[in-house]
Amino acid sequence: MSDGKLYLTGVKPTGELHFGNYIGAIKQACDLSQDNKMIVFIADLHALNAVRDAGVVRENTYRAAAVIMSLGFNMDNVLLFRQSDIDAVYKLTELLMNVTPKGLMDRAHSYKAMVDKNTAAGVDADAGVNMGLYTYPILMAADILLYDTDIVPVGADQKQHVEFARDIAGHFNAIYGNMFKLPDVRILPNAGVLPGLDGRKMSKSYDNEIALMAPQSELKKKIMRIITDSKTPEESKDPEESTIFQIYRHFATDDEVVRFAEMFRAGGMGYGTAKTILFEKLDSVLAKKRERYEYLMTHRDEIDAALAHGAEIARKIADKKIAKIMKAMLG
Ligand code: ADP
Ligand code: TRP
Repeated sequence: MSDGKLYLTGVKPTGELHFGNYIGAIKQACDLSQDNKMIVFIADLHALNAVRDAGVVRENTYRAAAVIMSLGFNMDNVLLFRQSDIDAVYKLTELLMNVTPKGLMDRAHSYKAMVDKNTAAGVDADAGVNMGLYTYPILMAADILLYDTDIVPVGADQKQHVEFARDIAGHFNAIYGNMFKLPDVRILPNAGVLPGLDGRKMSKSYDNEIALMAPQSELKKKIMRIITDSKTPEESKDPEESTIFQIYRHFATDDEVVRFAEMFRAGGMGYGTAKTILFEKLDSVLAKKRERYEYLMTHRDEIDAALAHGAEIARKIADKKIAKIMKAMLG
């Protein structure tokens, strides 16, 4: 049932979306879209602090949009567009700079992680830090505040950014009156961190990911490459320790999950068999979605049309809001 609130989330187009992105962030938004009004945008401006090739940004934007259009979001409830198509978001970012304390940016996890890495490497603390990275949370606050968002479903690592958006809105409202809604973050309680092929967090940075829309043969190959321990088929295994099980549990029914866990504990199932079971489950859940994804990637005019249509509607909302904000700040 809809709670009458507006949900909003952004998907950063930095490569092929993988199972970790899906479980940690996108699945929650997909589920919420079934009964709620939702804005989903492709956050291409957010990719610019790291991706330097316009062709790559464009290609990844198509991929991300095609994933959103094929995963089973309720598109009747979703307003989908490309962030860079909305001029008001650039304006609002600039305007919010003036009410954002610098200290807030200094505390941002993503920036601090770079500083820590640089410090450990014995180089200048700000080496490789551009202002796009440093002010990233302000752009993200603009994304959220521009549309009077109530709730922001995101992965756990984005929680701080949403809290910053709330802080920034508070600073603005204290000076200029009640302009912005204070957004709430929503994180799936038990999404956890999905492990990748080598057992570490699945991440593009570790090159251990499985692309959500990988073709069937690649999906199979990747699953067969999941690293396991050296237990023999006969030995009992702990499902909680197994990457195979950790992925499976997000895609199967509750009964199937209980049964698979029992098979791990009982012994008698080798990892090869477990991988085949995982592959068959993923393949059956994803086959239709992958088909639609592949169709869209070869019919990009349909993606263009969907994004253009979404942008037209989003622009109307955003233009009205930015006019009010500019009036409040500039008279
Ligand atoms: P990557 O680590 O591959 O660069 P991103 O940082 O672009 O992925 O992640 C985008 C979103 O997906 C984030 O909100 C994050 O919470 C979620 N996410 C990424 N990897 C995982 C994972 N292994 N487990 C759970 N969530 C993840
Ligand atoms: N920063 C988010 C990520 O890296 C993507 C994003 C950009 C976003 N703007 C947003 C998410 C606004 C929620 C709301 O995953």
